[in-house]
Amino acid sequence: MNIKGIIFDLDGVLVFTDKYHYRAWKAVADELGVYFDETINNRLRGVSRMASLDIILERYEGRPLSAGEKAVIAEKKNGLYRQLLAEMTPADVSEEVRDTLKELRGRGCRIALGSSSKNARFILERTDLTDAFDAISDGNNITHSKPDPEVFVKAAEFLQLAPEDCLVVEDAQAGIEAAIAGGMHSAAIGDAVHCGLAEYTLGSIVELLQIV
Ligand code: BG6
Ligand code: MG
Repeated sequence: MNIKGIIFDLDGVLVFTDKYHYRAWKAVADELGVYFDETINNRLRGVSRMASLDIILERYEGRPLSAGEKAVIAEKKNGLYRQLLAEMTPADVSEEVRDTLKELRGRGCRIALGSSSKNARFILERTDLTDAFDAISDGNNITHSKPDPEVFVKAAEFLQLAPEDCLVVEDAQAGIEAAIAGGMHSAAIGDAVHCGLAEYTLGSIVELLQIV
């Protein structure tokens, strides 16, 4: 296998923003009087903001909400989330992540981001990671969220590589499904290891150096 490009998910792979998503959604859910816990939060992994809201609203017992009302709720969550993201610093990215990205590039791999988040560039800026990427595909350049492969297909296009020459690194089952649907190689880390769908499983990001 000759991997020419590596497409990284962001949340849960390179940075750990799940806790911020949880705190922001929890505040919104409490205000709506909807039950929300860490288990439900796990279902939001890799899922777009509006699809995440729909999952949370599965337990909402009030009258159906209009698209406009949902947009206001999602905007409120995002405001809270961005306040938490603004506190992030380069120290929120481990040396292991930085060294692995650098080493992969040194071996001639092209590096892309493939994240459902519309806040991806903000997170990369806060953590001083932007320059580690040759291309960025995120929630702003897609119309279909994972498990649709669009975000990864775009990332491969931005790298000017064929899908079969790319390896996707993901912590969400939806992301592994998206990689497979896009015809790419896949490596699971964290939560996604348990779905058993990925071609490779990683205990830690540095193990990528044994694959590539
Ligand atoms: C993904 C997260 O990276 O981004 C999801 O795993 C989140 O939980 C999605 O819903 C969208 O994020 P944002 O920042 O656009 O609201
Ligand atoms: Mg993720």
